[in-house]
Amino acid sequence: MIAFEKVSKKFKQKNVEIRALNEVTLTIDTQEVFGVVGESGSGKSTFLRLINHLESPDSGEVFVDGVNFSLLNTKEQRKKRQKMGMIFQQFNLLGNKTVKENVDLPLKLQRRNEPDKIEQMLQFVKMAEKADQYPSSLSGGEKQRVAIARALAMGPEILLCDEPTSALDDQHTYEMIQLLAEIHHTFAATIIIVSHELEVIKALCNRTAILEKGKLLAVTSIKNDENFTHYENYYERVKEILG
Ligand SMILES: Nc1ncnc2c1ncn2[C@@H]1O[C@H](COP(=O)(O)OP(=O)(O)OP(=O)(O)O)[C@@H](O)[C@H]1O
Ligand SMILES: [Mg+2]
Repeated sequence: MIAFEKVSKKFKQKNVEIRALNEVTLTIDTQEVFGVVGESGSGKSTFLRLINHLESPDSGEVFVDGVNFSLLNTKEQRKKRQKMGMIFQQFNLLGNKTVKENVDLPLKLQRRNEPDKIEQMLQFVKMAEKADQYPSSLSGGEKQRVAIARALAMGPEILLCDEPTSALDDQHTYEMIQLLAEIHHTFAATIIIVSHELEVIKALCNRTAILEKGKLLAVTSIKNDENFTHYENYYERVKEILG
């Protein structure tokens, strides 16, 4: 389980203080597929980065399976972070490395030589045939598949997805939804998806957090909510309910 307890994070930009997250309290169950929505700048990426402790909270606490990252030493933090994969809108592949080499990167960093694992992950994301190609020759959807294979190579218990489909066309978005659902099914991972595309959230998540200017507006179940496709309506409605 992931638990945020009154977590706040500020940043300074030109002497102006920005509250990226403001006393956010919520829990995400183990193996849940959990969404995070909100306007640009509402703190979504910061929220993800607090889970794997790429950011540390100014106040409040983040627990992953009962462990407070802030209390671990660097080595323990690294070990815990290795159990969390992350994928990004812009894929973040290395252009001078082949598909196979990109997937090998996190293993190599740990001095692990596991060609079978790489092959297996590339098979899973249906990219084995392009193992020796370079990212520049791939479509956006294919690049994201490779990025996912790279994240999966480490056997993550938690997969953090920051706008995973936002750079993709409709067809690739659909395939990505299928792939993420398959990952959930196959690897029983906890998956957290930040997206402004509510159809993606709706297709995959049980619940979603709605952030507004760093504040948690609501955590809501999705599947039964007919209005969820209409973000404006939904958002307005949630605001209305919460006064
Ligand atoms: N490293 C940083 N230094 C300074 N300000 C930051 C930093 N990271 C985030 N911020 C600020 O904190 C706020 C929240 O940023 P965050 O990236 O979490 O938002 P977001 O919801 O992911 O936005 P987007 O949808 O545009 O990706 C923004 O105002 C942003 O400018
Ligand atoms: Mg962001």
